[in-house]
Amino acid sequence: MPEDSLPQRIPEPELMVGDEQAAAYAGADFTTPHNRFINLFAERFPGFGGGAVLDLGCGPADITLRFARRYPAALLTGLDGAKAMLNHGVAAVARAGLASRIQLRHARLPLPDPTALPRFPTLIANSLLHHLHDPMVLWQTLLDHAEPGAAVCFMDLLRPSSREEAAALVSRYSGAEPEMLRHDFYHSLLAAFRIDEVCSQLVAAGIEGLGVEQVSDRHLLVWGVLG
Ligand SMILES: C[S@@+](CC[C@H](N)C(=O)[O-])C[C@H]1O[C@@H](n2cnc3c(N)ncnc32)[C@H](O)[C@@H]1O
Repeated sequence: MPEDSLPQRIPEPELMVGDEQAAAYAGADFTTPHNRFINLFAERFPGFGGGAVLDLGCGPADITLRFARRYPAALLTGLDGAKAMLNHGVAAVARAGLASRIQLRHARLPLPDPTALPRFPTLIANSLLHHLHDPMVLWQTLLDHAEPGAAVCFMDLLRPSSREEAAALVSRYSGAEPEMLRHDFYHSLLAAFRIDEVCSQLVAAGIEGLGVEQVSDRHLLVWGVLG
């Protein structure tokens, strides 16, 4: 068993507000992990038929769009605190002709007024948790905006055991990407949580019904039906 030289996460900047950073992210090819997210959702929620879906930290809306294409009866709200990221999302949604089913909102979590956003029967998120300086922001948002019995599917990065392992993952999966993306991926891995840490967060928030599992060498999935 290799020694754990990253026993604590190293947080990175929360919002992705830089124009250059947002353009690099929006231009990256996330086909494999984002399709994987959609497939994981489909496997875990085979009876899902559509309805209102909240995508937290939607960024340039690539997952929002993939979800909308996969589920023609879904009406999606994407929310993100970085206008630079959302601008790419708004353009992508318009290009896809899906503006009638996808609404993007500029808002930073935690919302100053939770009543400004309704409750949803389905909530999804990809790669938001590791950005949050206080992870309880995500879990409180879930408590505030999920209907009883809501379907929840959040995927995020998993913190490796060392900087060397993080660098190896960056080379393996982003070797050909621009330097800015590789830099962000590396620091995102260092900022990510482990499964036991996420389990503790769920217990601390009093959230029941969700499980946490490893779904790849760099991803964890929090999913279930809210108790
Ligand atoms: C790594 S990106 C993921 C974007 C998208 N979900 C995807 O999978 O492509 C993380 C996003 O979370 C947003 N974010 C981080 N902290 C946030 C907060 N407190 N409130 C709202 N959005 C936040 C960032 O601005 C960024 O767009």
